[in-house]
Amino acid sequence: MDVRMDGRVAMITGASSGLGLAMAKEFAASGGSVALLARKADALSVAKAEVAKAAGKANTKIEAYSCDVSKAAPIADTFKKVVADFGKVDIVVNNAGISHAKAFDTVTDEDWQGDLDLKLFAAIRLCRLALPGMRERKWGRIVNVLNIGAKAPGADSTPTSVSRAAGLALTKALSKENAPHNVLVNAMLVGLIDSDQWQRRHKAIGKGETYEQFLAGMAKGRIPLGRMGKAEEFARMACFLCSDAGSFITGVAINVDGGASPVV
Ligand SMILES: NC(=O)c1ccc[n+]([C@@H]2O[C@H](COP(=O)([O-])OP(=O)(O)OC[C@H]3O[C@@H](n4cnc5c(N)ncnc54)[C@H](OP(=O)(O)O)[C@@H]3O)[C@@H](O)[C@H]2O)c1
Repeated sequence: MDVRMDGRVAMITGASSGLGLAMAKEFAASGGSVALLARKADALSVAKAEVAKAAGKANTKIEAYSCDVSKAAPIADTFKKVVADFGKVDIVVNNAGISHAKAFDTVTDEDWQGDLDLKLFAAIRLCRLALPGMRERKWGRIVNVLNIGAKAPGADSTPTSVSRAAGLALTKALSKENAPHNVLVNAMLVGLIDSDQWQRRHKAIGKGETYEQFLAGMAKGRIPLGRMGKAEEFARMACFLCSDAGSFITGVAINVDGGASPVV
């Protein structure tokens, strides 16, 4: 099977590290052009160089944009710049996010608002900007990166599980509305996947175990496949959904979790 993205332009939020960076590399290696969004300019320029390297000889364009997607104005400005630089946006991956889960009683109004701004409103705003062009060209892909708590929330999982569940509803509603225009909208639900956020957490805990021991401890008893996922494994599924190979799949939410979720 040929999974190619030649001629497509993808806008990926949270693309300076972890899953977002892995998706950007996979898309570029498959011939796609990629706009990378994140807040920190220094990390973005390192990421841009890595993505360009992954693209190899492919005829792609890679640009990086410093943008806080939890705010409306930067999203609108950046979208305008991306269209000016690339001419169009065919693919949007709403991936930016940070871990935010604690006991319900301790979640403040500010926590709720911040989480919804980053994980729900960022996707709403970017989809609203990108959808008209996708519909006009009769080709589009949106992938909303959520987590398995969206379908199966656990204790101490707010505000994230609630923001993510809203992302599921957004995915389904947009898939129905846009299918007649050949714009496909899907969600990918992360379980536990090795990324920069786990490296930061390992450093912060500083218990003296190696990073490999830390990852093995995280996976033990939680992931039926017996290990944390790799960002590349996640990126391959995203690339499939965003290519022509995924042309009959819309409105689904796929667990990419090594079997961890209790529900399908
Ligand atoms: N890896 C997992 O096991 C796991 C589990 C559950 C859910 N997820 C979800 O999967 C997505 C990717 O996670 P990851 O593990 O790859 O995390 P990561 O390595 O920490 O990367 C997060 C990315 O998001 C960007 N970002 C954060 N806040 C932003 C903002 N306000 N505006 C723009 N960009 C922002 C970060 O760059 P800047 O800081 O420079 O902005 C970075 O590029 C997130 O939505 C996360 O919640 C991951």
